[in-house]
Amino acid sequence: MSSEESESPQRLGVTRRQLLASGGLVAAAFVAGSTISQFTQSDANDERRAEPVEPVEPVEPARAASDPVDLSDWEAVRARFDASYDTAHMAGMLLASHPQRVREAIESYRQSLDANPVNALNQYRERNENRLNEDAEQWSMAAAGRYFGVDPANVALMGNTTMGLAMVYNGLHIEPDQEVLTGHWNHWATEGSLQYRARKSGFDVRNAVIYDDLQTASEQELVDRLVDQITSATRVVAVTWVHSVSGLKLPVGQMGRRIDEINEERSTDDRIVFCVDGVHGFGVENAVMADLNCDFFISGGHKWLYGPRGTGVVIADPQAWQFATPTIPTFSGHLTPGRQFTPGGFHAFEHRWALNEAFEFHLDIGKARIEQRIHDMTGHLIEDLAQMDHVRLRTPTDSALTAGIVTFEVNGRSTYEVTGHLRHRGIIASTTPETHRIPRLTPTLLNDHSHIERTLTAIRELR
Ligand SMILES: Cc1ncc(COP(=O)(O)O)c(C=O)c1O
Repeated sequence: MSSEESESPQRLGVTRRQLLASGGLVAAAFVAGSTISQFTQSDANDERRAEPVEPVEPVEPARAASDPVDLSDWEAVRARFDASYDTAHMAGMLLASHPQRVREAIESYRQSLDANPVNALNQYRERNENRLNEDAEQWSMAAAGRYFGVDPANVALMGNTTMGLAMVYNGLHIEPDQEVLTGHWNHWATEGSLQYRARKSGFDVRNAVIYDDLQTASEQELVDRLVDQITSATRVVAVTWVHSVSGLKLPVGQMGRRIDEINEERSTDDRIVFCVDGVHGFGVENAVMADLNCDFFISGGHKWLYGPRGTGVVIADPQAWQFATPTIPTFSGHLTPGRQFTPGGFHAFEHRWALNEAFEFHLDIGKARIEQRIHDMTGHLIEDLAQMDHVRLRTPTDSALTAGIVTFEVNGRSTYEVTGHLRHRGIIASTTPETHRIPRLTPTLLNDHSHIERTLTAIRELR
């Protein structure tokens, strides 16, 4: 009996997504996940267990205490970062500047590792379920769970978004006669992962065009056009929540609901697995996993989340792990599906272990406040840029379709003329990831409305 049949949430009178929100199926799905048990191995292979483990001095577990500073005011939040205030960092999402509590946690773990690497590993990496409260990976998984409304058992730790996408797309069970449907635009991290996998496995990757003009597109159109292109061969739908090339935010939750309806008619082997590159919504949108109705959610921790550089997560619906096999053997034990999906090898542990601090930072400030703040600054930019005759906005003006990314062109000016001019005015912009790059502005917690005004003034000068 498949785990889908054995765990049918419909039989329990609730939807699978409701169960996901409550974490109710985690334990059952883990036990029932046949693929998971296939790759589960004994910890006997673990090289650490081959050596006698030195007793370690008990140390205070890293805390999830609140930031001691009152974060109710945006200046106080801004002051937690070392990034210079004189420069308007309008590309702050590209690679995080670490807030103080992340910096301090990294530094404290680094000191432990430098003082005694083996002891630090023994101290902070425990797989024994009785000692999970002493495992720094567990703290990061638990904080991700608190932040995104999931059981930590369904959180896998990654080195970045790209690694998470590659782990998912390389590992999904897709037959040669099935296909992957991709949503109009995806970052190369998704496209490359799918291309490499398709080359080995022989399935088709088909691109669904889901809008013609971003200025007239609507949520309904985006959802309908994606769903209309699903066929009986579609095994995977791969989309990007917020597009780094345009700033478009897809109505992922609505797409997931429609995919759920289609799945009600399908068997486990044909079920559509819905995967989302969520990196530019994670840390911006006040959402939890259940809002997105997806099977696999993949994100970096080092962009909008301001987490340690070189971190990321894969978060899955408890029922979804059975559709994928990991590529990189875990060193994190096999207690949960998320741990089994967490790539092994040794890492920059001080960064991986400090990821919890980034989630706690967001929770301390408040996810709703952060969303409001970033949307306010994005709206300010879009509204004023839309009034400028010499500017062509690519980002939709419909606020339902945006998050924190604004892309635009200036008539008669090359991209690098625009970003160069901004740089002369003390403004750091980035450019979109495509062959013909265009300027991109992304207000973050490093910014305030004076930075937005300065940026708008500089763009007006390019008339
Ligand atoms: C949409 C999107 N996905 C994935 C990535 C890759 O992110 P990472 O550096 O975390 O692998 C990027 C890079 O900026 C991106 O814009």
